[in-house]
Amino acid sequence: MTATGVTASAPGKIILFGEHAVVYGHPALAVPVSQVQAHCRVEAASGSGLILQTPDLDEADIHIENAEAAALRQAENPLLTVLGLTLTELGQMQVPPLQVMVRSSIPIARGLGSGAAISTVMVRALAEFLGRPLPPARVSALVFEVEKRYHGTPSGIDNTVVAFAEPVFFQRGRPVERLQVGADLTLVIGDTGIVSPTYKAVGAVRAGWQADSAGYEAHFAAMAALAEQARQALEDGNRMAIGRAMTANHQHLQAIGVSNVALDTLVQAAEAAGALGAKLSGAGWGGNMIALVQPAAAEKVAAALRAAGAENTIITTIAATAA
Ligand code: PMV
Repeated sequence: MTATGVTASAPGKIILFGEHAVVYGHPALAVPVSQVQAHCRVEAASGSGLILQTPDLDEADIHIENAEAAALRQAENPLLTVLGLTLTELGQMQVPPLQVMVRSSIPIARGLGSGAAISTVMVRALAEFLGRPLPPARVSALVFEVEKRYHGTPSGIDNTVVAFAEPVFFQRGRPVERLQVGADLTLVIGDTGIVSPTYKAVGAVRAGWQADSAGYEAHFAAMAALAEQARQALEDGNRMAIGRAMTANHQHLQAIGVSNVALDTLVQAAEAAGALGAKLSGAGWGGNMIALVQPAAAEKVAAALRAAGAENTIITTIAATAA
């Protein structure tokens, strides 16, 4: 071991375009949200076993003696699975005496990538603590293993955007591409306050697609076209076009059944308050929506969202990328 203690941090994320369609192989765009963060601190434990502390997650501390990586990998607890997978990746079969503290300000099950961010910081901190830092692509792949175990059929976009911590154009089975952003973009994120586990909405879309594959494929294709248009508009810094594409994307998400009254109410409130476009973000049925705004309108749109029932709002800027 080369370090006495290591801390890793990762941002939350939002999906700008293409959620759900991305599960079926279509492209999607996602960006990190640095206002919310997960952190993991790994230190050598004074005792012999593994201590896992998660004060923000309302879970009791876990203390395991004589742990083996293989047993942790099979654990019911996703955080132990992360540790087991990471140790296995690093060729360490026996768990060394470790104290692992995980903290997060990312709301859970609201489409902000909480699970992926927590897994990411754990992989990173542990690998670094053991003197074997892993590149983002390896971190992302390990986090994807965890996501698959606990979330059914994830597309891989969450682990990708969080592990790389930069705007991404993502399509399953293709190398991840860095998204070029031609002008700063101001987004207001509105939280419905409704917890919505991703696997439920993904499962409902799967059932809908099985019942009406032609209808769902048409919506996925339309969302894919919007993602491609939006990618160009982002490169060009064309806010009006991005906003229009967001609103159109929301309509297709409504059509496949993943919006709800709370999300539609916030989308309408944002547009009425002058947003350039708005849509739900993530799995739907709760969680967050996003609105693209001119910077001067951000506070007004955020206030309108709260007045329309948003439990919380975040104003975030996607900074233009260097050419
Ligand atoms: O984790 P969420 O709520 O942002 O949703 C992920 C986006 C989906 O496309 C619905 C699922 C996936 O795995 O891509």
